[in-house]
Amino acid sequence: MGESVLTASGFARTASGELVCEGVSLEAIAQAVGTPVYVYSSRAIREQYDALDRALAPVPHRLHYSMKANSNLAVLRLLQERGAGLDIVSGGELFRARKAGFSADSIVFSGVGKSVQELREALAAGILMFNVESFFELEQLNEVATGMGVRAPVALRVNPEVRVDTPHHYTRTGERGNKFGIPIDEALDAAQRALALPSIVLRGLDMHIGSQVSHLEPYRDGLERLLDLHAQMRAIGASDMRYLDIGGGFAVTYEDETPMDLDALAAALLPKIEKSGLSLIVEPGRFIVGNAGVLLARVMHRKKSGGKEYIISDAGMNDLVRPSHYDAYHAVEAVHARDTRSVVDVVGPVCESGDFFALDREVDDVEAGDLIVVRTTGAYGYVMSFNYNARPRVAEVLVDGDRFAVATRRENYEDLVRLEPQQLEWRTD
Ligand code: LLP
Repeated sequence: MGESVLTASGFARTASGELVCEGVSLEAIAQAVGTPVYVYSSRAIREQYDALDRALAPVPHRLHYSMKANSNLAVLRLLQERGAGLDIVSGGELFRARKAGFSADSIVFSGVGKSVQELREALAAGILMFNVESFFELEQLNEVATGMGVRAPVALRVNPEVRVDTPHHYTRTGERGNKFGIPIDEALDAAQRALALPSIVLRGLDMHIGSQVSHLEPYRDGLERLLDLHAQMRAIGASDMRYLDIGGGFAVTYEDETPMDLDALAAALLPKIEKSGLSLIVEPGRFIVGNAGVLLARVMHRKKSGGKEYIISDAGMNDLVRPSHYDAYHAVEAVHARDTRSVVDVVGPVCESGDFFALDREVDDVEAGDLIVVRTTGAYGYVMSFNYNARPRVAEVLVDGDRFAVATRRENYEDLVRLEPQQLEWRTD
């Protein structure tokens, strides 16, 4: 393999035009593990984590990786070694977090609907904080905590009702009328209620305005509203407030978007946070892992139909749903550089017309048997995959320097039916 110049994403082309991940050939991974397969660069993950950590260094802060973006245990362990905490949204994520070795007190629990069982599990574990999203949840958490004889540390997740610009409306959460958080004009009442509940300790305020946000204004505006609330809450006796959580959402580059400018973000937010005396919490997911992953697939064949040309890859929408679900752009490239390009649709084998990665896009002229990658799929790729068309879920591979390891084995056919009994056990009540 020739010399490669590593990019921030951990993927680069050698002098001979082959795309590699750190020091490992993607061709070698495909041969050893098969395709489709997600490939992640450890170096890229570490670099993103460290860059954010450095940018926030002027104030006391905690970096809680939002594990919904990529909850592979090997990825989690890598971040745990860096000193990360986690943002979780379910009992299943709590389970994964503990498996990966995270201590409970490094976990915040977000989510608009937490079940009683999930509340119980998180209280028993002793997590750092619940990001509470409604009066109902506040009362319910109080009741569960009282029953267990413990007190629940709480941050109120407030919907700051700021204008947020994200590529798709599904990923906006901080605008008026969204299902997430406590509406800002009810937040002071919620604090009053929290202070009156015997098994609740009010520790902080929280927001999460959306995902893939490249402008800092909504963070700045949201933060100002939260700090305003903080002052009002202190005035009514909230004296145990320690944390201010501004959520995640920091943008990465898929095509030509500007990624979040960390220095500008820090300059806009940190002085205000410092003045408040609160500790900052951030919950980034995509920013840490998005550019650190590709979906490596093999071209099955090319075909022409009705004046269009299709490249059919062995990966489908069930392996990566973002293009289909959000109309999201992901770059598609040949692993071995090609001299010519054509305008094609890159599609998968799934029986849906919505099964595509790129539409009417100029891409490298690849042929049957060639390897391609779908870029920037380290976040919300594997975690959102499913078994439609009885397609086994793909493997995940982690690269570190010149080594790689299977971090999730590919499902086999037996895995597809393992939850279904051969014989039904009929019951009448
Ligand atoms: N905190 C909370 C409360 C969240 O709901 C989310 C994401 C995050 C943090 C992390 O956001 P990030 O830094 O990754 O943008 N599946 C969609 C994204 C959904 C995001 C949901 N919440 C996608 O593929 O674009």
